[in-house]
Amino acid sequence: MSAKSFLSKAYNVRTGAETEAFYRNWAETYDDELQQQGYAQPGRCAAALLEQLHDLAAPIIDLGCGTGLSGAALSQAGYERIDGCDFSEEMLRKAGDRKIYNRLFQANLNRPPIVEDAEMYHAALAVGVFSYGHVSPDSLDEILRILKPGGALIIGVNAHFYDEGSLCAKVDALAAENRIVVHVWERGEHIPGADIDGWVLKSAKAG
Ligand SMILES: C[S@@+](CC[C@H](N)C(=O)[O-])C[C@H]1O[C@@H](n2cnc3c(N)ncnc32)[C@H](O)[C@@H]1O
Repeated sequence: MSAKSFLSKAYNVRTGAETEAFYRNWAETYDDELQQQGYAQPGRCAAALLEQLHDLAAPIIDLGCGTGLSGAALSQAGYERIDGCDFSEEMLRKAGDRKIYNRLFQANLNRPPIVEDAEMYHAALAVGVFSYGHVSPDSLDEILRILKPGGALIIGVNAHFYDEGSLCAKVDALAAENRIVVHVWERGEHIPGADIDGWVLKSAKAG
């Protein structure tokens, strides 16, 4: 399979098993392909976090960190204590090579707990992980559990899955229950080289 064909198939996976196999095979060439296509969402999400969290030494988590392109943007923004998790061993191995994470661990975000302790993190970011066959919007309940009150919740999602509606519906429900605040969606570039737009959610757990 040529490197380019991975991105073109990323929105076709539907089950967790398909997704895991997909990233096992993509891990080696993921960075090259995404960078060639001008992957914009990590930088957009890191900039969104800088608007909310000024303590660069605060512990934060990169959910579905993959090979660490999202963590690299956080590190470039100045954040110093970044944990990362993903369910793909192969993607995590690549993330480890970057030497930017405080801690990396394997976790299926659809199967709580992500970590045992509640309220561990000042921010949670999920860049490119809410999508078909990937992470379910219902995982936001567990993500909120591990965030401190007032902690930033930043999500970068492709426009295909945003339009599908289940993530927006879950976010709206959490806002209606006063469990998150702020709650602004911004449209912009996701993978401009492939002509894919995306949305960034800027929100925070209620304090
Ligand atoms: C498009 S990549 C994004 C990786 C990274 N955040 C980035 O921006 O480059 C999606 C990642 O989500 C991970 N993933 C998908 N479903 C998952 C799940 N249920 N639990 C944990 N990780 C998952 C994949 O293994 C993959 O690394």
